[in-house]
Amino acid sequence: MDANATTPLAPEVVEAMRPYWIEQFGNPSSIHAQGQQAHAAVDRARESLARLFHCNEAEVIFTGGGTEGDNSAIFGMMRPGDHLITTSIEHRAVLQPAEYSAARGVEVTYLCPQPNGAISAEAVRAAITPRTRLISVMLANNETGVLQPVEEIGRIAAEAGVYFHTDAVQGAGKVHLDVDRIGCHLLTVSGHKFHGPKGVGALYVRPGTPLEPFIVGGSHERRMRAGTVNVPAVVGLAKAADLAIASLTDGTEARLVRLRNRLEAGMLAIEGTAVNGAGAPRTANTTNIRFEGVDGAALMIALDLKGLAVSGGSACHSGAVEPSHVLIAMGLDKNAANASLRFSLLRTATKEDVDYALHVVPDAVERLRKLSPIETGTLA
Ligand SMILES: Cc1ncc(COP(=O)(O)O)c(C=O)c1O
Repeated sequence: MDANATTPLAPEVVEAMRPYWIEQFGNPSSIHAQGQQAHAAVDRARESLARLFHCNEAEVIFTGGGTEGDNSAIFGMMRPGDHLITTSIEHRAVLQPAEYSAARGVEVTYLCPQPNGAISAEAVRAAITPRTRLISVMLANNETGVLQPVEEIGRIAAEAGVYFHTDAVQGAGKVHLDVDRIGCHLLTVSGHKFHGPKGVGALYVRPGTPLEPFIVGGSHERRMRAGTVNVPAVVGLAKAADLAIASLTDGTEARLVRLRNRLEAGMLAIEGTAVNGAGAPRTANTTNIRFEGVDGAALMIALDLKGLAVSGGSACHSGAVEPSHVLIAMGLDKNAANASLRFSLLRTATKEDVDYALHVVPDAVERLRKLSPIETGTLA
């Protein structure tokens, strides 16, 4: 139950990639037949990503994943003296480029979410100054699943004549993506979050967006991203995009909502639990649960020993355990953040998986509460 960390390759993705490792190994930049075969495969892959984004093929750049897409958007747009509006709940793939940009003379505003984990679009409007060049707000939060009001933010950006980037890494395959409806100029996705390969992704770039290339050294991807295209990975990403599109209309989302709700209801039956982000619209597969009085890291390890993989509300940075910056930004105190776990369901999750979690979690919580009672965390 850690699908927001990564997902396995779909069998169809493995099959689609297979020929491009060995028989059709050409470099898409070569002009001979082998190269042209590879080039055609990359062109077909671009069509799949264009269908995922609802855009033209020429607006898709293949990248080395979500982190590269986010870095490309921020570093490719921001110059000293510009103003960037982003949020305190972004993934580090956005936060760190923002910090680096700030060190190079960019002014950065970090908006805090409301207690339910959603950013207010009006707060975005209020933060715009004459120097604002880019707004970067994620589509769905990786820790809580909370969907951000990107369409409203897109309209606000358009009214103000400001460029808009959205990190849709946790949205792809979970919600319908339409770059015109969102009104974004840049949008990032990553293959491994929706049953595609790791280390490959795509960046949507609206025509006329003055994006400077982040990686230079060749004329690949219309000079926007130098480096020989990873053909098998791009073909796999495209197949994953095709499957993601299909999964949005075949009842997968409704099934996941039912499973997530069953999981949540079972967890909430345990005394002293609450859902972080409850009340906000969320992706179907994610729930972030606070187990008051429990050390989340210890619970995570106890569940791992039972074969249940989840993520904690704390992360290890340089050897020190830090509470989640997302939960802290939502107003939780350190203990409450550390007492939280993220459960994120794979597209293939079953009722049995959920029932197994409901079988092992209550016991583990009870045992830990008895063993080492810690100060009860509360919502600040
Ligand atoms: C919201 C978000 N953005 C960006 C990334 C980074 O993507 P990648 O692992 O492809 O570099 C992740 C991965 O966890 C993410 O959840």
